[in-house]
Amino acid sequence: METSDLHIPVMLQEVVDTLAPQDGQHFVDATFGNGGYSEALLGRARCTVSAFDRDPDAIQRGVPIAGKYDGRLRLIQSAFAELGAIFNQDNQVDGIVFDLGVCSVQLDQPERGFSFRFDGPLDMRMEKTGRDASDIVNSYSEKQIADILWQFGEEKASRRIAKAIVSARAEAPILRTSQLMQIIHSVMPRPKPGQADSATRSFQALRIYVNQELEQLEQALQASELALKPGGVLVVVSFHSLEDRIVKQFIRQRSGRAPNPNKYLPQAEHQPAALFSISSAKPKLPSEKEIAANPRARSAKLRAAWRTDAPAQPIAQAG
Ligand SMILES: C[S@@+](CC[C@H](N)C(=O)[O-])C[C@H]1O[C@@H](n2cnc3c(N)ncnc32)[C@H](O)[C@@H]1O
Repeated sequence: METSDLHIPVMLQEVVDTLAPQDGQHFVDATFGNGGYSEALLGRARCTVSAFDRDPDAIQRGVPIAGKYDGRLRLIQSAFAELGAIFNQDNQVDGIVFDLGVCSVQLDQPERGFSFRFDGPLDMRMEKTGRDASDIVNSYSEKQIADILWQFGEEKASRRIAKAIVSARAEAPILRTSQLMQIIHSVMPRPKPGQADSATRSFQALRIYVNQELEQLEQALQASELALKPGGVLVVVSFHSLEDRIVKQFIRQRSGRAPNPNKYLPQAEHQPAALFSISSAKPKLPSEKEIAANPRARSAKLRAAWRTDAPAQPIAQAG
């Protein structure tokens, strides 16, 4: 199978046009996946790409791709929240792109446990290490599970589903995606035609929680302030409202467009200098044609911002 058959890159043309690579420039592809964005950048100009992916399988798939680009593609097996350890004020790049979430290859492999479309172990770990989804459903309290489903899946029936999980696990541990799907289906109304499966939100919530996806995004966006050269571009393609809200608020705040916290008081006189500039407050959306060809593009939103020359705030070290 060709790598391009495995995952169709979303909004590829718009991403590459926005990054506008030139010979000699250096980009970070924070989510290598199948290398669709990286390859398009490397093909457009004699630039270099440093590509992150926390999934060891994605890095393995990248090895033969790197072989095609005579040292211009560097693969880094790491979560993108760590990008500041390599790219910072001492080592800046011309652009950083994020294509968030999981890719089709991960979803389509039953053994990774990301999808209820196939039966597989209830895993969901991109990195293949650490606590998996079955640990959470089998050991967390009913309240903790309900909170995860509500917070990361915006699931209105979070309490009902959590209760069903806790009563099912008293009979037998929940170890398979099909078990969890059946438990959810048993307490949810059948979806109307055109509606998503009633397990969709719960699976999304567990995946986001297991991989700490929102914390990863917040940390990486903050690191991008130091990692980008003046004029460097940040591009983020997101797929659900939780991610998009983080990106939108970050860009708004760093471009000096955060709303006045108190509309009855004048804006503070000395606003900090904007760290990013934007060309539009609205995200770009995929065309109808792209959505028809690739349903996964349906919910995509692309936001971009350009680094100004204002000095970044050093990132506070944890601990
Ligand atoms: C949607 S796919 C990217 C597809 C890619 N743009 C392409 O064209 O093939 C997302 C990829 O990002 C990786 N990923 C998600 N979150 C990550 C994180 N926090 N750090 C590093 N990689 C991450 C996933 O493992 C997955 O391979």
